[in-house]
Amino acid sequence: MSDKRFVLTNPDDQSSVELPLISGSVGPSAVDIGALYKKHGIFTYDPGFVSTASCSSAITYIDGEQGILLYRGYPVEQLAEKSSFLEVTYLLLKGELPTKPELESFTHTIQYHTMIKETLKYFFRGFHHDAHPMSMLSSVVSSLSAFYHDTTDIYDPVDRDMFAWRIIAKMPTIAAAAYKHNIGQPFIYPRNDLDYCSNLLHMFFSVPAEPYQIDPVAAEALDLLFILHADHEQNASTSTVRLAGSSGTNPYAAIAAGISALWGPAHGGANEAVLEMLAEIGSVKEIDKYIARAKDKNDSFRLMGFGHRVYKNYDPRAKIIRQMCHKVLEKLGKQDDPLLELALRLEEIALKDDYFVEKKLYPNVDFYSGIIYKALGIPTNMFTVMFAIARSVGWVAHWQEMLSDPAMRIGRPRQVYTGAPHRDYQPISKR
Ligand code: ACO
Repeated sequence: MSDKRFVLTNPDDQSSVELPLISGSVGPSAVDIGALYKKHGIFTYDPGFVSTASCSSAITYIDGEQGILLYRGYPVEQLAEKSSFLEVTYLLLKGELPTKPELESFTHTIQYHTMIKETLKYFFRGFHHDAHPMSMLSSVVSSLSAFYHDTTDIYDPVDRDMFAWRIIAKMPTIAAAAYKHNIGQPFIYPRNDLDYCSNLLHMFFSVPAEPYQIDPVAAEALDLLFILHADHEQNASTSTVRLAGSSGTNPYAAIAAGISALWGPAHGGANEAVLEMLAEIGSVKEIDKYIARAKDKNDSFRLMGFGHRVYKNYDPRAKIIRQMCHKVLEKLGKQDDPLLELALRLEEIALKDDYFVEKKLYPNVDFYSGIIYKALGIPTNMFTVMFAIARSVGWVAHWQEMLSDPAMRIGRPRQVYTGAPHRDYQPISKR
C-alpha cells in the first residue's frame, strides 16, 4: 500500500473521505474502496468491471495500450519462441521456470494422470450424437467432482496440487471423448509415452482399425497455440472460476463454471464464430458489405475476432499467431487456403477503416487461431474446447493463488437497486 490517498468529496455536505491507493509492481494503481460502504454508506458502480481490480495477482500482466502480455514476468513472445506448453504450465502454477529435473518430474506427473475413470466415459452415452462439445466438456468436467469430492480438501496444498495435475492431464482426454462421441467413433485411450499435444492428436484422430502417424508440425502448432491461450489475467472465465471457487465449492465444479463462461461468442466462443463469419462472408467481394453491417448501430452483426476489452493495440498473441499461420499452413501443404486469404483481406480492409481505427479495434487472438485449428483438421465446434484445454492452466493457477491468499473472502458484489420500493401485498381479488 502506498502513502498516496484519493479524496472523494460528497457533493451534499462537501465532507470528504480519503481512500488508500494500492500499487502493484507495474501497471495502474487501484483505489482501495473496501471500507467505503461501511464508513460512508455508498457503493461504487462499474458494470463490466471496466475500472475495477477484483483481486491482486502475481500471475499475468497485460498492458493493453502497449500490447504487452507477461506470464510471471516473461514476455509471451519469448515463451512462444523458446518454451513448451508444459513448461509454461509449470511456470504459471509455480511462479518460476522449472529446472530440468523439475520439468521432467512435472511432465511425468501430468502424463500419468491422463486416464479418466471408465464409468465417466459412459456419461457420454447420455448425450445426443450432435451435442455441442462445450456442453459435454462442462458437464463431464463438473461430474469429475462426483469422483473426487471426498478426496479433495481445498485447504490441503497436497490435494490442491493433485486437483491441478488431474484437471490439466484429463482435459484433452475428455475433449477427445466429446469429439469421438460427435463423430460416432470409439473412444481412444491416452498414450503416456507421448508429449501433451501429440497425445491429444492421437486421441482425436487415431482409430483402432489402423495405425495413426502423428504429424510433429501439428503437435508443435498446437503447443504454441496452447502457450498463447494458457492465461489472460481476470477475463470472464477466470473471474468466474475465482468467484465460484471463492464459495469453497468443489474445484472441478468451479472449472466447469469457467468452461461455461468461456463458451460465449464475446469470449472464447469467438474462434468458432470467426470461422462461421468467414464462411458467411464467403468471398473477398462481399467484405465491404459486412464491414458496413459491423458499423451499423441498428445491425447486431459484429466482426468476430476484432476488438478486445483490454487491448487497444494489436493483441500480442494475434501477432504471433498471424506470423505462425502462414508457416503452419505451408508446412501442412495448405498455404492456398481461401479462408486465410479472406481473413487477411478482411483484416487489411478493417484496419484502414475509420470506424475500426478510431475505436482501436484490432484483430484479437481468436481471429487467426481458428484458421490453424481448421488446417489441423479440428472441426469448428471444437475450437473453443481447444481454448478451454489451454486455459484450464490459467484457471487452476488463479484458483490456487486465490486459496493461498490470506485476504480471500467469498466474492459478493453489490448492486444499485432500481426496482419497486416497499409496497404491501394485495390479494388477487384487488389487483
Ligand atoms: N465489430 C464492430 N464493432 C465493434 C466490435 C466488433 N468486433 N467490437 C467492438 N465494437 C464497437 C462497439 O459497437 C462499441 O461501439 P460504440 O462505442 O459506438 O458503442 C465499441 O466498439 C466498444 O465496444 P464494446 O462492446 O463496448 O467493448 P467491450 O470491451 O465491452 O467488448 C469485445 C469487447 C466483447 C471483445 C468486443 O470487441 C466484441 O464483441 N468483439 C467480437 C467478439 C470477439 O472477438 N471476442 C473475443 C475476445 S478475445 C477473447 O476472449 C479471447
